[in-house]
Amino acid sequence: MRFHKIILPAILIIAVFMATSVCPVLAGETESAEVKKAAAVLHPTQGNNAKGTVYFSRTKNGIKVEADITGLSGGTHGFHIHEFGDCTAADGTSAGGHFNPENQPHAGPDQAKRHVGDLGNIEADNSGNAHYERADTQLKFDGRDSIIGRGVIVHAGEDDLVSQPSGNAGPRVACGVIGVAKN
Ligand code: CU
Ligand code: ZN
Repeated sequence: MRFHKIILPAILIIAVFMATSVCPVLAGETESAEVKKAAAVLHPTQGNNAKGTVYFSRTKNGIKVEADITGLSGGTHGFHIHEFGDCTAADGTSAGGHFNPENQPHAGPDQAKRHVGDLGNIEADNSGNAHYERADTQLKFDGRDSIIGRGVIVHAGEDDLVSQPSGNAGPRVACGVIGVAKN
């Protein structure tokens, strides 16, 4: 009897331990599954026609950003990740300022000290179509600096990459929210 009182519970504890170390659901690992791709659908703000998609994907050179936007005026348009994934305001201002978790000044995408959200500009052709593709080492899918759930904004004007706090890029013509995408 004494043997069973000690050995049986011990076997049970070992069995539960082994099960949780093998099974990801029991071990609680499902929530920490690594995000490999994220997406944002951009919709026009009131009075504008700009719309499109932005994909973010993990590569060995950082997170690759690929955007295709239509309905723009020809020329250069500021393109940023903003603090809030909230496009409820008709003019897009609910997305807040540039995403800046490291408390840095506004700058261009290739500067070490910049807002994490400073992606620079996209160039639209005479038909109003813009394609942007760039790998970025400051964007992250996890931790405090994660871009998941943040906003993406395209502006009416050019980001001069210098003026504080946001490059003087003018009104917001399209807004979207970054969400986790299927790999
Ligand atoms: Cu912006
Ligand atoms: Zn900025």
